[in-house]
Amino acid sequence: MGTVTLPRVVPAPSGKPVRAGSKETQGRVRRIAQDPASWTKEAAAASAARFDTLSELWDEERAAYRPAPLADALARGGPLPAGTCVELGSGTGVLTPLLLERWPETICVDLSAGMLRKARAGLLVRADSARLPIASDRAAVVVLGDTPLFAAEVVRILQRDGVVIWANALGVDAPHFLPTDVLLVAFERATSRRWDAVESDALWGHWVVLRPQ
Ligand SMILES: C[S@@+](CC[C@H](N)C(=O)[O-])C[C@H]1O[C@@H](n2cnc3c(N)ncnc32)[C@H](O)[C@@H]1O
Repeated sequence: MGTVTLPRVVPAPSGKPVRAGSKETQGRVRRIAQDPASWTKEAAAASAARFDTLSELWDEERAAYRPAPLADALARGGPLPAGTCVELGSGTGVLTPLLLERWPETICVDLSAGMLRKARAGLLVRADSARLPIASDRAAVVVLGDTPLFAAEVVRILQRDGVVIWANALGVDAPHFLPTDVLLVAFERATSRRWDAVESDALWGHWVVLRPQ
């Protein structure tokens, strides 16, 4: 199957927010996906501190537009297995209600105590996605909404027939955006298997649903 790109069904109105420094962050996020050793203790501490600060106004400024790409992925990204969902980089929980509707057991993992303090739903775990305190093969679905990718950890906790959902709320302009080919290479390297992808744009964002063949 390879990569299938579905036509957009959720239009993108004008007024898309612009995030300063997003290209630099994209460079770092790409490096992490390709070389997880570039993620250091210092980088983790700096990221947690930054999101602790951002947590104050996160929901007020950003909650309205962020769920649209994930909602579209859930509706059109193909069959999704039942079981445990793990949401990585879950933040204040803006995306979590959509996940709980499908997966009553959703584990929400984030590095920032400030972001987690605002979260109201899911099983909240403060941890680094680079070293997850979650058993191997536990997750039917792993969801990453604008957060760094550590593919080896994702596939370790994912069941063999599990599914990964990747969403960037500001699409190619999102600080955490990664193109689908980079995602596929990361998962193929981590598993020595081929993966398929279904992707589309929704509102201002982009999503990809990835499955091992
Ligand atoms: C851009 S925010 C997205 C939050 C949420 N997914 C949303 O859509 O509103 C990125 C989140 O990823 C978290 N994060 C960054 N690096 C992480 C890591 N290595 N492990 C776990 N969480 C991380 C941050 O603390 C932050 O809450």
